[in-house]
Amino acid sequence: MANLDLFATNPDEAQDRSRLDALRAQLHTLAHQYYVLDAPTVPDAEYDRLFRELQALEAAHPDWLTPDSPTQRVGGKPLDQFASVRHAVPMLSIRTETDTESTGAEAFDARVRKELELVEGDPAVEYVAELKFDGLAINLRYESGVLLQAATRGDGENGEDVTQNIRTIGQIPLRLPAVVPQVLEVRGEVYMRRDDFEALNERQREKGEKTFVNPRNAAAGAVRQLDPGIAAQRPLSFFAYGLGEVTPAEQGGPAFATHYGMLQTLKSWGFPVAAQVEVAHGASALIAYHQRIARERDQLPYDIDGVVYKVNSLALQRQLGFVTREPRWAVAHKYPAQEEITKVLGIDVQVGRTGKLTPVARLEPVFVGGTTVSNATLHNLFEVRKKEVRVGDSVIVRRAGDVIPEVVGKVQSVLNPEPFRHYPRSPYVPNFRMPTKCPICGSDVVREKGEANHRCTGGLFCSAQRKQAILHFAQRRAVEVEGLGEKLVDQLVESNVVRTLPDLYKLGLTTLAALERMADKSAQNIVDALEKSKQTTLPRFLFGLGIRHVGEATAKELARHFGSLDAIMDASEEVLLQVSDVGPIVAKSIRTFFDQAHNREVVEQLRACGIHWEEGAPTSDTPKPLAGKTFVLTGTLPTLGRDAAKDLIEAAGGKVSGSVSKKTHFVVAGTEAGSKLDKANELGVTVLDEAALLEMLK
Ligand code: IVH
Repeated sequence: MANLDLFATNPDEAQDRSRLDALRAQLHTLAHQYYVLDAPTVPDAEYDRLFRELQALEAAHPDWLTPDSPTQRVGGKPLDQFASVRHAVPMLSIRTETDTESTGAEAFDARVRKELELVEGDPAVEYVAELKFDGLAINLRYESGVLLQAATRGDGENGEDVTQNIRTIGQIPLRLPAVVPQVLEVRGEVYMRRDDFEALNERQREKGEKTFVNPRNAAAGAVRQLDPGIAAQRPLSFFAYGLGEVTPAEQGGPAFATHYGMLQTLKSWGFPVAAQVEVAHGASALIAYHQRIARERDQLPYDIDGVVYKVNSLALQRQLGFVTREPRWAVAHKYPAQEEITKVLGIDVQVGRTGKLTPVARLEPVFVGGTTVSNATLHNLFEVRKKEVRVGDSVIVRRAGDVIPEVVGKVQSVLNPEPFRHYPRSPYVPNFRMPTKCPICGSDVVREKGEANHRCTGGLFCSAQRKQAILHFAQRRAVEVEGLGEKLVDQLVESNVVRTLPDLYKLGLTTLAALERMADKSAQNIVDALEKSKQTTLPRFLFGLGIRHVGEATAKELARHFGSLDAIMDASEEVLLQVSDVGPIVAKSIRTFFDQAHNREVVEQLRACGIHWEEGAPTSDTPKPLAGKTFVLTGTLPTLGRDAAKDLIEAAGGKVSGSVSKKTHFVVAGTEAGSKLDKANELGVTVLDEAALLEMLK
């Protein structure tokens, strides 16, 4: 009533209130599109504007602040300790089938059939196959659709209240649609993506702070971080895979019949559910799933340590019940480990494109993450010291996805007895020193104050840097010179035929054919590839120059913002800072690069060689006919390469995704299109050919 009075006397207040409600609703939707669907519909700047408007309204009306407001993801105070939470429904674990071969799936199916008293000839059992995420289990409790509490699994009976930290995860909805049950506990895995993990460790290394062993440890550390401000800087993600306590059907709660149906409902309520969840009939389908995911494992953006099979029917799940703390209706089927122990045979130093010297451990070959690894990075001198790695030590090596294998740390055990010491432990490692001269070119090695990395000062005088610079320029995602691989670049640089990038375009048939092991045909192919590479795009060219801190995404943003290379080359740091994606370090790096006369010279010579691209208008408002549209490419297109098609779609504001879902707007199919096309037809997604795509781009 008091409120009504207020509204009656203060129409501004009523207006503020309705604006505030509208902003919250819109920001919830936008966050879901951005974090869960990975398909933003407005530019980041617009989101920020709405967010700040809401913050201002809440500041003016502090009594309207509620915990489910989008502004409340971060902001809690550091805690002394976490409160204990008793789980309404215990959080179970799953039996693990350690047999990484197909027999693991057969054994599970056989147990389920026996338990259900099925005999030969009875139909196959219907399962759901899922990924086994390598993170930590979390229970999210919603009441009346508002996230009230998030708790770790703990011992399964009692966990810890980590609500403040979990709120910072953008993928976790703070508020659910009106239709959800009064009490709803959603269970799932909090994890850290591999790229987020790499970036976090890189930041930690640069600051000289402790790095994390793997994404799981980093995620667990972030969730159990007492200061939510720190937790917010550790980017986490989430997948839902089950339920805890839920309002029963008799009291108006949902009546799910299958696990799969339940997951689809969770998805419709705004929770991230992995796209790889599938219904599978019988053991053979489980085996096929296990094998297929094994092949896709490296390409996933996060770690999985296996797959999980669950009986789909919830009635059958109840019938099967539990043994101790493990349900009989589920099993985890493992993959080979991504971390293994091996021995350090030596420590070499490699020189990278930017002159960075990297200590690399030569290892006794070990099978890890699906391949044999015999070298692993130690990142920098300080990491070697911190980890106290010496030749002869047993170490843990991690290889996950396409991330470079790394030495995570030393095995602390009888394998590495600490030598008897009279003196306090020294952090200096006796049998590894960073060289003071570059092992490749002999130039001085320096380390700038506050920097963790040692660098060769030789620049393009250093053949290692020259080789890397050329390979970077010629790679597929940059200017793309097909066939210009490591071996050929080694030959060209070592014989001094190529000293700078423009030298590449002066290569003639005779010079190439004169190289050892070079057939006339391959020489001609390289000449053709060089010719073809001359027609490129501004972002590819910019990225190809190898400016420190300018990756593909930044190159695209720069090209979009400035339109022309000259505008970028002449932009001051202040002007560069206006580009989204460009911070002070990047701006400085770009400025420094183009302030070097020899770099400008290289650019001019490349242009003189005939390298060209189309330049656009110097604004960020170029038309975006495909804004908000998601595409999937499949098969071979008649003229466009896959990267070219992706670039064109992205330049027009569209997004290219790897898998087809209901959220896909268009599938572009060429010849030999496979399962993605089937899936598109099944879901009724519009299928285009190349011509239709080009038409849309006009
Ligand atoms: S279901 C009753 N599904 O594995 C079944 N768990 O030992 C309860 N996990 O701590 C779990 N991916 O953190 C389930 N798709 C998935 C999973 C998954 C990873 C983890 C979870 C749990 C452990 C089970």
